[in-house]
Amino acid sequence: MFDFDDLERVLSEDEGSHASDAEGLAQPRPRQPVQEHGHVRIWAISDLHTDDPKNKEWLAHIDTKDTANDVIIVAGDISHKWEIIRATLSFFKEHYGRVFYVPGNHELWGGAEEDSMQKLEKLLKLCAELHVETAPAEVATSSRRVLVVPLLSWHHPQWDTEPDIEGWQGLLPVDQMLSDYPLTHWPRGISIKDGTAAKAVDKINDRLMDWEQILARRKNFHEVLSFSHFLPRVEANPEKRYLSYPNLAKGIGSNYLRARVETLQPDVHVFGHTHFGYDLVVDGIRYVQAPLAMSSERQSRGTTVAVGDFPDGKSRPHPFLVWHSRSGWAPRCRGAAWSAYVERYGRRPDVTSLVPSYVADCGLEPISGIGGAKAKVGWLPGRMPVWFFGPREHRIREAAAEADKVAERLRKEAAGTFKRAGTFKHRKQQIGSDEPLPIEASEVAILMNKGEVAILDVREGDFASRPAGCVPLSHPSQTSNFAALPDAELLELGERMMTGGGPRILVGEGSSPASCRHAALLLAALLRLWPRDVRPLRGGFDAWVKQGLPVEPTGSLGHGGY
Ligand SMILES: [Fe+2]
Ligand SMILES: [Fe+2]
Repeated sequence: MFDFDDLERVLSEDEGSHASDAEGLAQPRPRQPVQEHGHVRIWAISDLHTDDPKNKEWLAHIDTKDTANDVIIVAGDISHKWEIIRATLSFFKEHYGRVFYVPGNHELWGGAEEDSMQKLEKLLKLCAELHVETAPAEVATSSRRVLVVPLLSWHHPQWDTEPDIEGWQGLLPVDQMLSDYPLTHWPRGISIKDGTAAKAVDKINDRLMDWEQILARRKNFHEVLSFSHFLPRVEANPEKRYLSYPNLAKGIGSNYLRARVETLQPDVHVFGHTHFGYDLVVDGIRYVQAPLAMSSERQSRGTTVAVGDFPDGKSRPHPFLVWHSRSGWAPRCRGAAWSAYVERYGRRPDVTSLVPSYVADCGLEPISGIGGAKAKVGWLPGRMPVWFFGPREHRIREAAAEADKVAERLRKEAAGTFKRAGTFKHRKQQIGSDEPLPIEASEVAILMNKGEVAILDVREGDFASRPAGCVPLSHPSQTSNFAALPDAELLELGERMMTGGGPRILVGEGSSPASCRHAALLLAALLRLWPRDVRPLRGGFDAWVKQGLPVEPTGSLGHGGY
């Protein structure tokens, strides 16, 4: 037999029935029906944003077969609209045995007639009315006891302890960039900027639970899961140089939350807010984010939203499975691009002036003079770009979208309607950045001596020899399709293509410079480089040989290895 139960019963079993055991557990929790057979699963999801019609549709199609005994963790950001919040929570209550929830930042948005603390209190009342749980409670089966701990939180800039990017200008301060600043209203003496809002929200946790008691009883549980909307650890966020808004870290995390998580030491902490799928262990705690995110984000960067087959991998989608009563914690998931990237390469927050092209394109300009000399566009050598770590179906879809954009450009160029202006936001950086820059064989020889280049042989066909040490990637059969390779093969290829910090050199056929230009545009798009950093060798393989650069036989691989 298994049973759902709540923390009050556990406390009374542990230490006898003391009135004080229930103190601090302000909300009564509904008792759930007892099931004689079956299993219990804990699912998690954040950032539902069900005011997005496609998200509402996604939710309506989730697989709710056999979820009547299951538990769902909703880690904030349903909507700022009251009726949507109510309808979404009611939907979960209808289909799941228990619903745990913490509000996100969107829920606290509103007009000045009601401050955000009042709105938060109203939300907690709504949860009590709907029997949505906002305080710690036990999920119990016949053999396992899992403690679920919701943690209210708010962000503050002081949480960010890593160095800012350097050598670039044009970054807006966080209070001008994040909607939370104009759209939330705080009581007198409380503000986001100095951390008093984060402190005030954190304090509500002490009303919803007896924190000391929770800590004292932690050892009585087989498993502990905590969750919040915001981030407890900077490691659960990509490094600043990779973010379209590099100062995002100033608006996503809380030291108060971090202190609670580190004291509680849950096995798993679920969070949300940044809309990056994550599954990463830091100092013994597994941090998981399973955001539904906006439909436009799923479309344009599904690789970095997804965690395995969540949210789009199945015909009937479901939230992210965290725990199963038969097998415990769900296996860790490789298909979360950013956490897989961090696991492979570690974090280098000390690299502050090298940014990818898509970051430089978001309004940054190099600072001229001494500081500006540092500003560089590109990637750390030898690292495969992050989206190739995402699930295969997303990689294929995004690569196809990039290939379509390149094809569209070529069509417009042929028709004489291609406009350079507008491709990049800032004219200053734009100069030459959107055109592959041919390179002479003599220059390649110099770069090769410095070890700064990767050589890509993009010739299509059977050849007896090729540039020594090159990556064979014939165009268009392989340049267009490599994102579809299995994970391990793609990783090997991706890291080889990104060897050295200089330009990628494409060796094509001297007789067909147009196809080499197409390959350069395509690879630049797929590797998120500026086209000028992918350089077709002028004269192709013939020029390579003429320059006396090293060659090797193609052997049994024929025209290419991939
Ligand atoms: Fe969100
Ligand atoms: Fe959020």
